[in-house]
Parts: sequence; structure tokens; C-alpha cells
Amino acid sequence: MNNIIQLVYFLTAFLFILGLRRMSSPGTARSGVLWAGGAMVLATLATLLTPGMGNFGLILLALAIGTVAAWIAAKRVRMTDMPQMVAIYNGMGGGAAAAIAAVELLKGDFSDGLKALAALGALIGSVSFTGSGIAFAKLQGLISSRPLQFPAQRLVNLLVIAAAVVLGVLLLPTHSGLSVLLFFLFALAFGVLMTLPIGGGDMPVVISLYNAFTGLAVGFEGLAIGNAALIVAGTVVGAAGTLLTLLMARAMNRSLWSVLVGGFGVEQTSGEVAGSLKPIDLEDAAVMLGYASKVVFVPGYGMAVAQAQHKLREVADVLASKGVEVKYAIHPVAGRMPGHMNVLLAEAGVPYEKLYDLEDINPEFPQADVAIVIGANDVVNPAAHRQGSPLYGMPILDVDKAKNAIVIKRGQGKGFAGVENELFYADNTRMLYGDAQNVLGQLVQSLKKL
Ligand code: TAP
Repeated sequence: MNNIIQLVYFLTAFLFILGLRRMSSPGTARSGVLWAGGAMVLATLATLLTPGMGNFGLILLALAIGTVAAWIAAKRVRMTDMPQMVAIYNGMGGGAAAAIAAVELLKGDFSDGLKALAALGALIGSVSFTGSGIAFAKLQGLISSRPLQFPAQRLVNLLVIAAAVVLGVLLLPTHSGLSVLLFFLFALAFGVLMTLPIGGGDMPVVISLYNAFTGLAVGFEGLAIGNAALIVAGTVVGAAGTLLTLLMARAMNRSLWSVLVGGFGVEQTSGEVAGSLKPIDLEDAAVMLGYASKVVFVPGYGMAVAQAQHKLREVADVLASKGVEVKYAIHPVAGRMPGHMNVLLAEAGVPYEKLYDLEDINPEFPQADVAIVIGANDVVNPAAHRQGSPLYGMPILDVDKAKNAIVIKRGQGKGFAGVENELFYADNTRMLYGDAQNVLGQLVQSLKKL
């Protein structure tokens, strides 16, 4: 039986990796999720059939509660709330790894080496559990999403993590219920303290980091209790989470350290920009678009907030029917989570070939008659070229190089970085004010009348 179970775990590992591979392309991502989900079902079944397994009533009850809760949550969640959903699932994974460790550490009947692995997994899993909980609360608006800072914060954080590490090391030679409890209290507290000073907008990066943490914690627990499926799943999640975290930080031109230290966007000065904002009305915008030969759409966070992707596609369809060449420019960190724009536009049925990455579309802006910005701000802000700007070094979409730009936004709101955007003041930029969904809906009507 044991051999069959190990074989199933091996198959599971293979399916996880296959699933992850398929997730790397939008066309195959759905099936990738199904492959990985199927692998998870297999691993769960194999674990349930492992000789010596008991408490089936409780396990099945937990499985039923978890399945129903996850099903309902996944059906109901709005696309813009996806980051906090991921946060809560990450946290659960980290918490589960820490719970396994707690049981094993309390039993304490294994070698020092394995205990050390269990304690390490427990520390990382606990931090991920409470840290993800705070991330969830910030993004869900349950607590303020602003960075929460207090005097000597770094020193306090350092002392708390040091206490957790020392207590963890002390668990190796001897352990008691109290020492295990204290160890967990400090580890859990560190997750809270580490996340409080980080601003809501940086949360997606932190959530991805906690995802990596959870993977590591699960992997360590797999080693401690000798479970191959946990080791493989944990390693895959840990590696993927780490890469994603680094890619996100790099695309924002922020070091991971600066994200973790927190405080980004707390005290930004607005900075004076020359020129004025020049509004345009719907009819004029429709004429500009309808008689263009090439239009590039630049969606951003505001499109996600307004859920304007369907209307955007309608505008694109009308333009295409008039013979206008239409392309979508996708910045790697537009929105608030990786692939945010890709997912929304795919949901609206925009063909994937129409989406262009930053490197591919930037050379095309000078030939675009109109670049139309839909709720994007930082990712098109030329301030990123200027030293001293908080955005300095972040690659941007070169909307400022297009022949004309139209910017759809509700008012004078700044982007996530809190920096004034000189593109909006440029001579060839016109502001089309309003909620993106409303404005695009009206544009469709005006375009049809042309
Ligand atoms: P932002 O810079 O956040 O700008 C969004 C703009 O949308 C705002 O200026 C806002 O102006 C407008 N807006 C909001 N609601 C709207 C609505 N209903 N209709 C129309 N416009 C609306 O967005 P971005 O350009 O996509 O940049 C993303 C930022 O998030 C970057 O700084 C990036 O570094 C950061 N970030 C991204 C990620 C990932 S992975 N994507 C992770 C963490 C942080 P008004 O208020 O005037 O309407």
C-alpha cells in the first residue's frame, strides 16, 4: 500500500508541475488550474488512505466545511477583491503548516534535525498566517490600508522575531507546552507587526511573498513528517511565489526590502507640473477615435474599479468595424495584481493576440493617432524618467509619445504612488472625465452615430 501511495504522490508532483507550466500562458491557464486541482484531490485521497490514518469523521467534516466555504467564496468574489481572497487562502496554508508543526513539536518524539525543520516551518507558516490575515483586513477595508507606523517600530519587530527564533532553538533540547505556546505567540505576533507598516497598495507583493512563505513552511513540514506530496507541493509553491514576488518588485522598480520596510506613499509631495488639464467632450473624443487609423488602449487600475472591460471591448469592436487598427498595451503592474488587465480583458472576450506587452507596444506609440488611457496613471507617468521621483526607474508605457492622448478618469485623483502625472498636462493630451464604464458606454453610442 505504501508503495502505491508514494507512486500517487509522484504522479501528484508531476501534475502540479504540469499544471504550473500550463498556467504560464493565458490560453492554457484554465486547464493548468484544473490539472493542479486534480492533483490536490489525488494527494488528499492518497493521504486519507495512508495506513495508520484515523479520525475520519473529523477529517471529512473539515473537508466538507472547507469545500463548501471555498466554493461559495470563489463563486461570489469580485475580480477586484481577488488579492484578498488569495491572501486568505495563503494564510490558511501557512496556518495549516504551523498547526501540523504544533502537534509534532508538542509530541516531540523525533530527532533534533526534524524538530528544527518543524520549528522553522512553524515560524514561517505562523508569520504567513497572521501576516496574510492583516493583508486581507487591509485590502477588505476592515482596517486602514495606510501604512501603520510607530516609534522604534523596527527595533520592536527585530526583538519579536529574535525572541521567536531563540524560543524555537530552545525547543530542540527540551520542550514543554508553555515553551511551544510562547514560541507560537511570538511567531504569530511577528506576522502582524511585519505587515502593519506596509501600505495597502504594496499588499499584492507582500501577499505573493507570504505565498512563497507558505510554500516553504509546507515543504519544511513535509520533510519533518516525511510526506513527499507536502515536500513537492511546498517547494513548487515556494519557488513560484518567490519568483513572482521578485518579478513584481522589479516591474515596480522597488526592492523587496523597500516594500517590506513599508511606508511607501505616506508623505508624497504633489510636485508642480507646468501646463493645464484640457477636458474634451464625448462627441469630440468619438470623432478623434472614429477617424483615427491606429488606436492603442491603455487600461489601468481604474478600469478594474469601474469594471469597464466589457464596454472597452465594445468600443474596440465599433472602431475595428470602421477599419481602425486597435491594440491593447499591457503594463506588467497595471492594476493591483499580476495579470490583472489580462484577466479582465480575457473575461470580456478580447482576443489574446490584441494584447501587447510593454516592450512590444512602446515602439508603436509614435505611430498611434490616439492612445486612450482608461483609469491608468502611474504606469503612464513620465515622472518615472526623472531621478528623485518615487516612480524613478519604473518602465512606463510611452503614451506621451503618441500623436494624441485621451485620458479617462473621474477627476484629479492621483495614482497609487501619489505622484502628479505630467502626461495629463501635455499639449496633445485631453481629459475625458467620468467613471470609465459610463464614459466608454457613451462613447460606443457616439461612435455608432458617426
Ligand atoms: P494607478 O496609478 O493606481 O491609477 C489609477 C487611476 O484610476 C487613478 O488615477 C484614478 O483617478 C483612476 N480611477 C479610479 N477609479 C476609476 C473609475 N471608476 N473610472 C475611471 N478612472 C478611475 O493605476 P495604474 O496606472 O494601473 O498603476 C498601478 C499601480 O499599482 C502602480 O503604481 C503599481 O506599481 C502599483 N501596484 C501594482 C501591483 C500589480 S502586481 N499590478 C501590485 C502592487 C502595486 P481618479 O480618482 O481621478 O478617477
